[in-house]
Amino acid sequence: MQYVELNNGVKIPQIALGVFMIPEDEDAKKACLSAFELGYRHIDSAHHYYNEAGVGAAVRECGIPREELWITSKIWPDEYADESAIDKMLARFGLEYLDLVILHQQVGDYIAGYKNLEKAYKAGKVRAIGLSNFESERLEEVLAAAEIKPQIIQVEGHPYFQQAALKERVKPYGTRMEHWFPLGHGDANLMNEPVFTELAQKYGKSNVQIILRWHIQMGNIPLPRSTNPEHQKQNIDIFDFELTAEEMERIKALDQGKRYWTLTLEQQEEKFLNIKLAE
Ligand SMILES: NC(=O)c1ccc[n+]([C@@H]2O[C@H](COP(=O)([O-])OP(=O)(O)OC[C@H]3O[C@@H](n4cnc5c(N)ncnc54)[C@H](OP(=O)(O)O)[C@@H]3O)[C@@H](O)[C@H]2O)c1
Repeated sequence: MQYVELNNGVKIPQIALGVFMIPEDEDAKKACLSAFELGYRHIDSAHHYYNEAGVGAAVRECGIPREELWITSKIWPDEYADESAIDKMLARFGLEYLDLVILHQQVGDYIAGYKNLEKAYKAGKVRAIGLSNFESERLEEVLAAAEIKPQIIQVEGHPYFQQAALKERVKPYGTRMEHWFPLGHGDANLMNEPVFTELAQKYGKSNVQIILRWHIQMGNIPLPRSTNPEHQKQNIDIFDFELTAEEMERIKALDQGKRYWTLTLEQQEEKFLNIKLAE
């Protein structure tokens, strides 16, 4: 496993297993246990994925020292103003601390939400804090209000949508970028781009491994999801080869500003504020 250092000196494993769309605790636990066995040390969960208890059970049962694992979760907008949201989250996981907690969406009382993250950070309940999907001017609003600048921003990112502009916006804060949909949510068009097929043949790897290697060399933290142990195995077997500068340029040329997730800020407000998770 390879690590990157965050702006507070904490080191994060550079690739995670994402557990979106694995809503049964037992399935999430199984996926995490298989990933840990293969060498993963980083899981990306969320309250909205409904599987925090399953992830927590895998952490407690896997036999790996807690300090070697990195567990991320996300707070949903309806709990941003709730000062006990992180304590409730820790109870759902059955864990004493989390490594990273981020605000899941850029709607609701996000300033209060960020202040609650800062309190939890200072209390030692989380080792890093950050934002997810803050790509409007609300990003700068939170950055200005933040006493502790975010360690992480998690956004959609893949070769069709490389996020160069956002990277520049957060650079002054030392905020590192995590990429969701790192494989385009499994889009065959992306995975089968001829440049990936050509490089896969050259390096004796799969197309997906070339995409993930590109993320790593870009300095991103990709969060690929898979419940298939063969795919999980492949997805972390990417640290024994290196793409050349010219190959990185060819992949850069695939950027077409294409998001798979295209809601306007108004649509995000309407959709996400109607989802209630806090019990
Ligand atoms: N913050 C946010 O708002 C947000 C939003 C979306 C996602 N996320 C995070 O990002 C993670 C990834 O997103 P995602 O799961 O939707 O998209 P993804 O990782 O880009 O794509 C997942 C798809 O790729 C397939 N796949 C994985 N490895 C493969 C391999 N080696 N060969 C062939 N196919 C492979 C998976 O199928 P198999 O299971 O069959 O391998 C699955 O269908 C999520 O799990 C979540 O943690 C965050």
